[in-house]
Amino acid sequence: MKRVAVLASGRGSNFQALIDAAGSGYFPASIARLITDNPDAFAIRRAKDAGIPVTVLDFASYRGRTEYEAALLEEMEECDPDLFVLAGYMRILPAAVVRAFPGRIINIHPALLPSFPGLHGPRQAIGYGVKVAGCTVHFVDEGTDTGPIIIQRCVPVEEEDDEESLAARILVEEHRVLAEAVRLFLEDRLRIAGRRVIVR
Ligand code: GRF
Repeated sequence: MKRVAVLASGRGSNFQALIDAAGSGYFPASIARLITDNPDAFAIRRAKDAGIPVTVLDFASYRGRTEYEAALLEEMEECDPDLFVLAGYMRILPAAVVRAFPGRIINIHPALLPSFPGLHGPRQAIGYGVKVAGCTVHFVDEGTDTGPIIIQRCVPVEEEDDEESLAARILVEEHRVLAEAVRLFLEDRLRIAGRRVIVR
């Protein structure tokens, strides 16, 4: 059985979507561990309810970023799953971590990249006035939200939308595409060719 580890910092609804997908046999893997930088993350509760081990690397308890990042790398190496999923993990992964797991880390982002990278994708989309928004699952490289794209899904932006209503509409699609991307990865159907991801 393949193993997936998830990094999340907050609410964890995408993490929950993966727990549910694994539980229903949608993809052939178990969720082996949750790693979080936030001791108050609701994701921890979800992990406990599902019997998934949790590692809390409380950023505040380290002397600085370098120490935190060394602990994170060590934890990830020890866990060594087939795939890491960033599901609302709110820190930039250090280059050393990205290099340690080439092609084995994916991220979900609430915008149609390369538009609106970084924080607050839905807010940026509303602010810009786009008519179509969406989400992206991509491999993680050393940039911020710049890695090769696996799946994107769009949703309409309605005139009465605010950040919250748009984010909620996008989130529904996030849960679907994230599980789908994990499944494609675990079934060995993704090949990275430069910037493009070929899906077989
Ligand atoms: C999601 O919108 C995800 O795309 C972004 O942060 C949010 C996390 O939501 N990176 P949740 O914690 O999965 O509910």
